[in-house]
Amino acid sequence: MSTNQFDKKSEAWSALFSEPMSELVKRYTASVFFDKRLWQADISGSLAHAEMLAHQKIIGTADHEAIQRGMAQITTEIESGAFEWKLDLEDVHLNIEARLTQLVGDAGKRLHTGRSRNDQVATDVRLWLRSEIDLILPLLNELQTALVEVAEQNVEVILPGFTHLQVAQPVSFAHHLLAYVEMFSRDAERFADVRRRTNRLPLGSAALAGTTYPLDRERVARTLGMVDEHGEPQVCQNSLDGVSDRDFAIEFTAAASLCMVHVSRFSEELILWMSQNFGFVKIADRFTTGSSIMPQKKNPDVPELARGKTGRVVGHLMGLITLMKGQPLAYNKDNQEDKEPLFDTVDTLKDTLRIFAEMVGGQVNPANGKKEGGITVNALAMEEAAKKGYATATDLADYLVKKGLPFRDAHETVAHAVKAAVSHNCDLSELPLAVLQGFNSSIEKDVYECLSLRGSLNARNTLGGTAPAQVLAQIARHRRRLG
Ligand code: ARG
Repeated sequence: MSTNQFDKKSEAWSALFSEPMSELVKRYTASVFFDKRLWQADISGSLAHAEMLAHQKIIGTADHEAIQRGMAQITTEIESGAFEWKLDLEDVHLNIEARLTQLVGDAGKRLHTGRSRNDQVATDVRLWLRSEIDLILPLLNELQTALVEVAEQNVEVILPGFTHLQVAQPVSFAHHLLAYVEMFSRDAERFADVRRRTNRLPLGSAALAGTTYPLDRERVARTLGMVDEHGEPQVCQNSLDGVSDRDFAIEFTAAASLCMVHVSRFSEELILWMSQNFGFVKIADRFTTGSSIMPQKKNPDVPELARGKTGRVVGHLMGLITLMKGQPLAYNKDNQEDKEPLFDTVDTLKDTLRIFAEMVGGQVNPANGKKEGGITVNALAMEEAAKKGYATATDLADYLVKKGLPFRDAHETVAHAVKAAVSHNCDLSELPLAVLQGFNSSIEKDVYECLSLRGSLNARNTLGGTAPAQVLAQIARHRRRLG
């Protein structure tokens, strides 16, 4: 063995290894450049573990104090940017532990008693994700509130409701926006539910089988706030599962994907509504861009990107779920690949929700305390469009049913009336009474009430319907719910 090789041996993983990792392998296996963002969770987890070790007399009080002191310094160093992250030390866990040992000596080396990086990383990811969910929930609340605010202003505004992107029946624009509020409220429920399952403690599982030290896992769970709504500590009950399961991350990414799909559908509508052919809404200029060649353009880049980024988040879901599918129990290094998709999902979702809340609802103007610069609605264009597609044909059929016709016959009769209107190039409401009576003699003058867009809207006065009375009731419910 040459001296050179011997020197290198000191960089090897442990005495067991005859050579260090190659530089390429080091880079390939290292995660520190992305997992360093778990540092706060890592330190919290370590402090909770150390406190329990001391309480259980597995380490001494002096060691515990030294660990606390060292971690306080490391926190300062990381926050100030002075901390030196080293690729050689592979990941966030080894980087922090090595610095701790440098700072406090043997106490630092005692921290890892009864612990493995396997239960450590599983704990860190859960703690980190929990804190991110706690940021996402208020963002979802803000977006819903913005939609409710715009809805409040537009209860009486009539939009052509589409099926198959063909004009179907008139709906209140507020009702349409509130459909998204329902979707986002279910997203919030899902995230809250994922949070419950995320908020469970793997630490104490050690490498895979548990540990020989008398750990008090419930104490650690309580310290870390991993408790249920009754304050009961939540601890992973099987060590193999504790270190290897990532289904909370998959569930989260699934919930995020659904939420992004909702944003994406809304984006698609905004893009359509903003096009010259619709002209239903405008969004503030700061959410649009110009074209480098066509001076007249204002492009809806933000909704388009959100639609595009939805693909990215759904891709992360596919990545994570595929990551798990072939893994035998318990921990495998594959799991290190859970982080980048999860981080990117969180970042993309948070940015998207923030931007959409502002794009829809506007920003508070500090001068008058009012929100400004949200979505602008062109009520006239919407109503004109609703008039174009015989949107009240169903109302005429319902009118005939109320006169005693079976619905199928009424449907056919109205089809003839629509055909006549098409050939006269007019709306159903513009057909003279005599012409309408030609289709069915029971038709009377009051038919024009149900042929009007507003009459059609008002008539849909069942729970969940588009009648303004119903919409107002929903707005009030959402207001109470959203606080
Ligand atoms: N960086 C690793 C990860 O993210 C930490 C756990 C390493 N455990 C191990 N047995 N190599 O999963």
